[in-house]
Amino acid sequence: MSFLGIDLGTSGLRLLLIDEAGDVLATAERGYATQRPHDGWSEQFPSDWEAALESAVAEMRKECPAFSELRGIGVSGHMHGAVVLDTAGDVLRPCIMWNDTRAHVEAEALDKVDGVRDLSGNIVFAGFTSPKLVWLAKHEPEIFDQVETVMLPAGYMNFALTGDRVADMSDSAGTSWLDVAGRDWSDSLLSASGMARSKMPKLVEGSQHAGVLRADIAERWGVGPDIVVAGGAGDNAAAACGIGALNDGVGFVSLGTSGVVLCARDRCAPSPATAVHTFCHAVPEHWYQMGVMLSATDSLNWWGRITGRSPAELSGALGTSLRAPGAGQFLPYLAGERTPHNDTSLRGSFGGLSHDTKQEDMTQAVLEGVAFGLRDSLEALRSVGAAPQRLSAIGGGAKSEYWVALIATVFNLPLDLPAGGEFGAALGAARLGICAATGADVAEVMTPPDVDRTVMPEMHLVDAYEAAYQRFRERGPS
Ligand code: XUL
Repeated sequence: MSFLGIDLGTSGLRLLLIDEAGDVLATAERGYATQRPHDGWSEQFPSDWEAALESAVAEMRKECPAFSELRGIGVSGHMHGAVVLDTAGDVLRPCIMWNDTRAHVEAEALDKVDGVRDLSGNIVFAGFTSPKLVWLAKHEPEIFDQVETVMLPAGYMNFALTGDRVADMSDSAGTSWLDVAGRDWSDSLLSASGMARSKMPKLVEGSQHAGVLRADIAERWGVGPDIVVAGGAGDNAAAACGIGALNDGVGFVSLGTSGVVLCARDRCAPSPATAVHTFCHAVPEHWYQMGVMLSATDSLNWWGRITGRSPAELSGALGTSLRAPGAGQFLPYLAGERTPHNDTSLRGSFGGLSHDTKQEDMTQAVLEGVAFGLRDSLEALRSVGAAPQRLSAIGGGAKSEYWVALIATVFNLPLDLPAGGEFGAALGAARLGICAATGADVAEVMTPPDVDRTVMPEMHLVDAYEAAYQRFRERGPS
């Protein structure tokens, strides 16, 4: 038996095939582009996701005979995006992504509506789904009028696989339309943004059976006729399933395009006066809280474009042993910030430069700026009672030994690097596929992976980095 995890990431799609014991059988990846037609806009074509999936599956089938023993699929996706479908199921326009800030005016207005924060458990951030639909009604009314269903990216992939319009709780929690404590669409939240329950997909838990792979796809992929597709999850909840973070206090720091510090919670205790996100987990009766920064590896990618060097080259040039905090400073707000500032107008900057500043000093400043931004998220979590004692470090940026040592020291916490590295969300998605297809017990499937190595804080630099973090806070927005 094999199970497929599909992780629809911001920069590309990852496939992970595992067996029933959770061991990795095969992987495949494909990239796709993000369009930025105007400042603050960020869009992708769902047809690019489908093409990436087909091409990655073709490679995997060729290389791994166990693909034909497929039993279950789980999909994880970047959160908050709006994919709008008409009655026939056709996509009406490109997906408006999580890091698209065009709807900031609409978000601010919704955020002020009485009861919205309390019911949704969260600030209405500009990147969330509901303000995007208000924007659409205002600026593209001819498209808005044709909207039959609003799908999130992972839900859209499920729809492409099964033909069913279904959404999972974890991703739906990031729309501002879900009653996060009650795990149901809220009619009052929907009507606040001119939407209705009839335009929402059917809700399921991430680990539940959501549909069956369409017969034409099953035939094309050379698999059986009854492949179960799970509800799936938003990428952060899926990554939490991948590292076994279900119970209170267990979590991770993720260095992806976005930077996330996440902590699982046993109950729903939102704190919507803060920029901490409180969302349903991908498994029943669990929630999680997280702080989100918008440009984590995206900051280093930006610096790579400026310097013409790859992110790995840039961070590799710093060596592996952690330096004392540099004189240069970087504010990582290339696209505004969510936690803790909730401000789409913030922008990045360098400071503390001198005649002596070299390229690698500026690289160091970028890595430090991101680490301090993540520390802001950790502090935001601590302020709402989520107090992790150690964290897993996941995401593409966690391949940089320097960056991980820096974050361990800035957090003054041990960071565990899971064996098998990058496949957090894809592994979580595949595990959701196991639960949905076999009915296996969630707690037995979502176990912590083996730890490859634990990175401890560099104790002799903890105080210096604490002082540098305090300077970062003073320099940044209040
Ligand atoms: C979470 C968020 C990002 C995206 C992309 O709120 O917006 O982490 O899910 O990964």
